[in-house]
Amino acid sequence: MRKIQIVRVEDLRPGMRLARTVYSADGRVLLQAGIVLKDSYIERLQALGFPAVYVGDPEAAERFRDVVSESTRRHAIAVVKESFEEVKLGSTLKLEPIAQVVNDIVDEIVSTREVVLPLTDIRKHDDYTFGHSVSVCVISALLGVALELDDLTLRELAMGAILHDVGKVKIPEKILLKPAPLSAKEWNEMRKHTLYGFQLLRGRDGLSSRAAHVAYQHHERIDGSGYPRALAGDKIHLFARIVAVADTYDAMTSDRIYRRGVTPFEALQELKELASEGRRQLDKDVVNVFLANVAFFLPSCKAKLDTRE
Ligand SMILES: [Fe+2]
Repeated sequence: MRKIQIVRVEDLRPGMRLARTVYSADGRVLLQAGIVLKDSYIERLQALGFPAVYVGDPEAAERFRDVVSESTRRHAIAVVKESFEEVKLGSTLKLEPIAQVVNDIVDEIVSTREVVLPLTDIRKHDDYTFGHSVSVCVISALLGVALELDDLTLRELAMGAILHDVGKVKIPEKILLKPAPLSAKEWNEMRKHTLYGFQLLRGRDGLSSRAAHVAYQHHERIDGSGYPRALAGDKIHLFARIVAVADTYDAMTSDRIYRRGVTPFEALQELKELASEGRRQLDKDVVNVFLANVAFFLPSCKAKLDTRE
């Protein structure tokens, strides 16, 4: 019997025990770790749109210490959400609060000796961009540490990573949240988030131009098949190559985990494949550093993370 596992909300049954606390997007505790689920709690989770939760022994979950504390992560998500929503309403992006949470994240990461894979963050679909931005920041900073970037460079990378998808504020929600595949026209619009992000970030005081280029280039691919400019190989900035790996990893584990059972283990296999000579999508050196430095610590990493088997 596994000590903790991810269970989709529709598969939850009364009597199951919550292994990790469930938070709202603004960081409030909705259900505390350790609580025994009742029908009313399950209905609430369903009504709030949570896809899944961690079930099992909360002490076991506790042992898998997050590389960044839950409170820092939650706070970062709330700050990203607020800042992005203000831009959506027409304000200028406020960089200071974001730079502050980025510094907190980097401080926690550099004070941690081991580089470990963060627990999958379970988020609601409409909060996806904010949680995803923070996770990509955390994973990119981990990669930056493993690549031995100096402190200033590491912070610039983390700043670019947390802002990589800021251009999505300019994409209509009916495209962003569409539950079906995008049409060619919608896809064209979606791709523009890279350019919009660059336009929002370039030339901003106190922000490295490298961060703006992360927004611009994170969908470029090594073989030149990416967008918006079809850059290839070294023409893609190292920061963007790092963020592309973090972005791909996080999208695979969080997007599909409930639908297709992509575990962190499987996602790493897939990264390796995407960096192979035959595919040349992701930077091989960055992926190798990821594979060599990430510790598998989730008990069910080598098995399926869902309960459908
Ligand atoms: Fe993106």
